[in-house]
Amino acid sequence: ALVTTTEMFKKAYEGKYAIGAFNINNMEIIQGIVDACKVKNSAVILQVSKGAMKYAGPRYLKAMVDAAVAETGLDIALHLDHGPDLATVKEAIDAGFTSVMIDGSHLDFEENVRITKEVVEYAHSKGVVVEAELGILAGVEDDVHAEEHVYTDPDQAVEFVERTGVDSLAIAIGTSHGAFKFAGKPDLKFHILEEIQKRLPGFPIVLHGASAVSQEHVAMCNEFGGNIKGAQGIPVDMLRKASAMAVCKINMDTDIRLAMTASIRKAFADKPDGFDPRGYLGAARKEIQALVEKKIDEVLGSANSM
Ligand code: G3H
Ligand code: 13P
Ligand code: ZN
Repeated sequence: ALVTTTEMFKKAYEGKYAIGAFNINNMEIIQGIVDACKVKNSAVILQVSKGAMKYAGPRYLKAMVDAAVAETGLDIALHLDHGPDLATVKEAIDAGFTSVMIDGSHLDFEENVRITKEVVEYAHSKGVVVEAELGILAGVEDDVHAEEHVYTDPDQAVEFVERTGVDSLAIAIGTSHGAFKFAGKPDLKFHILEEIQKRLPGFPIVLHGASAVSQEHVAMCNEFGGNIKGAQGIPVDMLRKASAMAVCKINMDTDIRLAMTASIRKAFADKPDGFDPRGYLGAARKEIQALVEKKIDEVLGSANSM
């Protein structure tokens, strides 16, 4: 069924695994993800950024997600990723999303509390759950670019959750968005996650910027005409460690993009005389399915969570 994340997170917390939250932009991406979840019998979160709303339209995405629910029988949450304001949140809720993020992480603490509270009141009145963010991830978040991490302060996290009534919280412990997460050695601040988990027992934490950036896909892009240099993601063992802790939702978009682009580049190279979109988009869908099956086994631990 199309569900909120409440039960998913409860089971994930207790079962020491996490639910994958994958960004969707078109039909092949949706199908690749849910085909994998069907094979693994895993619940899943399909999330839509403001950019995705603009690209595909929230109603198209909602209709395709409804179709995915009907085809697979899986528990799927449809989530707004990085909602910038109440207007966007309302648009998503009106379109039938079951979960929304209000991202006030770039505001000062009091302003973040205020806007989050406002969204929580509205969303809860409609039966929709809310994710907020505290701390700043380095790198690009939609239009906002941050040079350096501002790690989440555990004291502030407790106060923030208590004052806003939010349902889950995204924290900054050293992950970042995109394909270039570390210049040197990967490093996540697990002691911050531990501290937050200690002070907010049972409360679901969200990890953004959690793509592993498969070097195979980067190499495949480059082998077939691409030029991606210095890409590095979060090591898989770190992600698995986080998913066994309080992290109940792991966000991945870059890995889907890389899988899709790598397979399309290869399909073009393999068949230069081909021009049927079902050929290369079908290849992309298969590659995304294989990627998500691997994520469920190696990163999330969410197989048989249905
Ligand atoms: O966190 C951002 C997600 O990767 C979505 O990216 O805003 O380009 O759709 P986007
Ligand atoms: P990645 O860029 O690591 O895939 O992160 C995606 C994300 O956090 C979406 O909100
Ligand atoms: Zn994000």
